Amino acid sequence: MNREQFYALMGGEGTLDYELYLKTKTLLGCQSDYSELCNKDELQFQIVHQVEELWMKLIAYSLLDIDEYLQQENTNRVITLFRRVHLLQQMMTQQLTLLETMSPKEYQEIRLKLGNGSGQESPGFRVLLKMYQPIWHSFKSHYLDKHGLTVEKIYDSEYNHGDAYMVAEALVEFDELFQKFRADHMQLIHRSIGFGAKSLKGRAVEILEEGMRQKFFPELWEIRTRMTDRWGASYGVKRDSLGGHH
Ligand code: HEM
Repeated sequence: MNREQFYALMGGEGTLDYELYLKTKTLLGCQSDYSELCNKDELQFQIVHQVEELWMKLIAYSLLDIDEYLQQENTNRVITLFRRVHLLQQMMTQQLTLLETMSPKEYQEIRLKLGNGSGQESPGFRVLLKMYQPIWHSFKSHYLDKHGLTVEKIYDSEYNHGDAYMVAEALVEFDELFQKFRADHMQLIHRSIGFGAKSLKGRAVEILEEGMRQKFFPELWEIRTRMTDRWGASYGVKRDSLGGHH
């Protein structure tokens, strides 16, 4: 068989139940036609982005479910679904590394085809950037306020590793993994277009650094600093060495 015949096989007939249920014909038609690809890396470039969009769709959907379970204080469901979300976030970060198998030159060729498109236009990412607000609101009203709890109490003065603490740590994990994606994406930029390059919208990639400082749940991070200050007050700013050396 020649290459074209294999291409036809790769698309499938689209008539079997597996293909019908999963809409494989549509799915496998979402990438450019083989004749339109500018080089051997473009298919990978499209698929990685499309897969990432699908994972973000699933993350967003799961977060909506999590929000409902938070309002019901169904902690077991919340924790199980957050485990799913965290795994998806890790996979998203891991899958970025596929694009490191693309040479900088091949990316320049692909980049000529992108118009002024930017990852900032990603529908999945844009919706995720909005979802922490309802999640935080539900957590705060149903796990904290309603029970007379505060972030300080669950982490320190009334710490008992209870439900509110477990959910708070799942939120922290979400925040951290989101930043890990951003950090690895930044590395990918360094690797493919170089640090300090202008994006296709003419803005320097440094603007991404603003996002890298974002915290969805700042209160959950600040409590750690406050605890270190408070506990640290018992020994002062600088502690004596355990060996007794000053
Ligand atoms: C060679 C590969 C890639 C390069 C060179 C690249 C480059 C860039 C650049 C320069 C920006 C800044 C955009 C602007 O200034 O408007 C950006 C943003 C972004 N890219 Fe990529 N990107 C790559 C792959 C990916 C992939 C695979 C994803 C998967 C989801 C992705 C998602 C995003 C997102 C979500 C943003 C916005 C980030 C934020 O606002 O914090 N990128 N990318």
